[in-house]
Amino acid sequence: MPFDAEVYRARRARVLAEMGAGVLVLATAPEVARNRDTHYPYRYDSHFWWLTGFAEPEAVVVLLAGDAPRQILFCREKNAEREVWDGFRHGPEAARTRFAFDDTFAIDRLDQELPRLLENQAALHYAIGHDPAWDARVLGWLNAVRAKARAGITAPGTLLDARALLDEMRLIKDTGELECMRRAADISARAHLRAMRACRPGMGEWEIEAELLYQMRKEGCQAPAYPPIVAGGANACVLHYVANDQRLVAGDLLLIDAGGEYDGYAADITRTWPVSGRFTPAQKEVYEIVLAAQAAAIDAVRPGASWQAPHAAALRVLTQGMIDLKLLTGELDGLIEQEAYKRFYMHRTGHWLGLDVHDAGEYKLNGEWRLLRPGMTLTVEPGCYIRAADDVPTELWNIGIRIEDDVHVTDTGAEVLTALAPKSVAALEEAMRHD
Ligand code: GLY
Ligand code: MN
Ligand code: MN
Repeated sequence: MPFDAEVYRARRARVLAEMGAGVLVLATAPEVARNRDTHYPYRYDSHFWWLTGFAEPEAVVVLLAGDAPRQILFCREKNAEREVWDGFRHGPEAARTRFAFDDTFAIDRLDQELPRLLENQAALHYAIGHDPAWDARVLGWLNAVRAKARAGITAPGTLLDARALLDEMRLIKDTGELECMRRAADISARAHLRAMRACRPGMGEWEIEAELLYQMRKEGCQAPAYPPIVAGGANACVLHYVANDQRLVAGDLLLIDAGGEYDGYAADITRTWPVSGRFTPAQKEVYEIVLAAQAAAIDAVRPGASWQAPHAAALRVLTQGMIDLKLLTGELDGLIEQEAYKRFYMHRTGHWLGLDVHDAGEYKLNGEWRLLRPGMTLTVEPGCYIRAADDVPTELWNIGIRIEDDVHVTDTGAEVLTALAPKSVAALEEAMRHD
């Protein structure tokens, strides 16, 4: 549990206050089989983790709002034999004090207890549609309550998506969360540095991936926050390239999008550098355009700015750059209006970042891009991807560049969490120097 139990208790109390009335039921993630007798490494559900700091599978949090609010956890019983095979389980009794709940029950009692807990409650908040098996289970509980109608007991008449409430609360990070994100960012930046130093023509993309993963695990990240992209040459123009099975070629660029997860919090960094340690003039020209687009976008991150402002700032610089590179012809505003840049820049300039790499939270409110507020965390990641084509100057073929940093909106502007990872042409060439 990364934070004190009282931090989670206070978060749950805030959720209860927001709910006003009703019941919230939220399960953690299931264990998932990979193949026979082997499971994917276990990762808790992000909402559940934010509410509890409880890392075991087979657990459910129940929050009863109203005049006498209750915070309840269902979790696995202690089991001496299973603990020999799979490791420690808290069990309901120890979990109650350790995780600051009012009540705890064995997970096996969920179907008995839930109908009782739902009696005479106006609303039920849960992750509607997330998992058909849970939908069926919840309907079973509701029907069990409805069956008591003649005893004067009513079932919740309103179903609400628990995630809508929690997403909005997760959007603003507290100081403890920001510390975790700084740590994930620092470790991930050092992983990129390690990859820069190791990089040589002829190496396999997988070897660079190994350098990244080594540094993340060595410094305490529990896992990569997402599968690393290690894309040499033309592979960089495949946005979700994760095969990482080609050899690096002298003269090509290498694009790496990799970040670690620390106590649940993600870093998300992209750097692009020349495999041989020196940019060609054409690579440098494109790189400087993307770097300038990123600087303009980061400059647009400040409290009160629209979510769209960094993207709009990046688009102006990138589209002008595409005109200068003779990739586009026409007038800047018209090309932006027509979205002509999309041939070479087809994604947006960022996303929320937190417990999920594409973190919780709406981007628009009432149809308008929302405004940035202190405590929000996002990525700023412009790019330019130029595939080989007859109407493209040959020296630009297969140049794929993205530069991605993680940014925290402060009271006055922006804190770049990932500043440790080199990104100017000079800093990258310096980091790659093999003396
Ligand atoms: N690494 C995922 C992304 O950049 O959105
Ligand atoms: Mn990203
Ligand atoms: Mn990324």
